[in-house]
Amino acid sequence: MSGTEQGVLPGLGDERPGPGFEQVAVLGDIGANGLLGVRKSTGERVCLVRIGTVVRAIADNCTHRDFAMSEGELVDGGVVECAWHGGQFDSATGKAVQAPAVKEIVRYAVVQRGDAIWVGGPIA
Ligand code: FES
Repeated sequence: MSGTEQGVLPGLGDERPGPGFEQVAVLGDIGANGLLGVRKSTGERVCLVRIGTVVRAIADNCTHRDFAMSEGELVDGGVVECAWHGGQFDSATGKAVQAPAVKEIVRYAVVQRGDAIWVGGPIA
């Protein structure tokens, strides 16, 4: 693989953690205890959730009305609040924990290698 292959940021390594993983960011791209919306080469919109130095990933589509979760905020203990109607999701489990969101949100596999953030496929 080369460092210029799709999904691999130049100069940041090209050892994929596994099939379907692609490097989408580095830790410093995400504000401390913040969110960052990225798009995988598959077109999937993913919201990275940074809790200290740990990063989780959920779909960047609220299950209530499809608003971008990355426009919301991390409110407490890994819970992400949607900016539109205030629905909340636990980024660890995907469960909706605050109405009007009721349907759980898709989570994605994340591997961190140094500062590199790799996102894989959805977690069932
Ligand atoms: S769109 Fe997210 S709570 Fe309504």
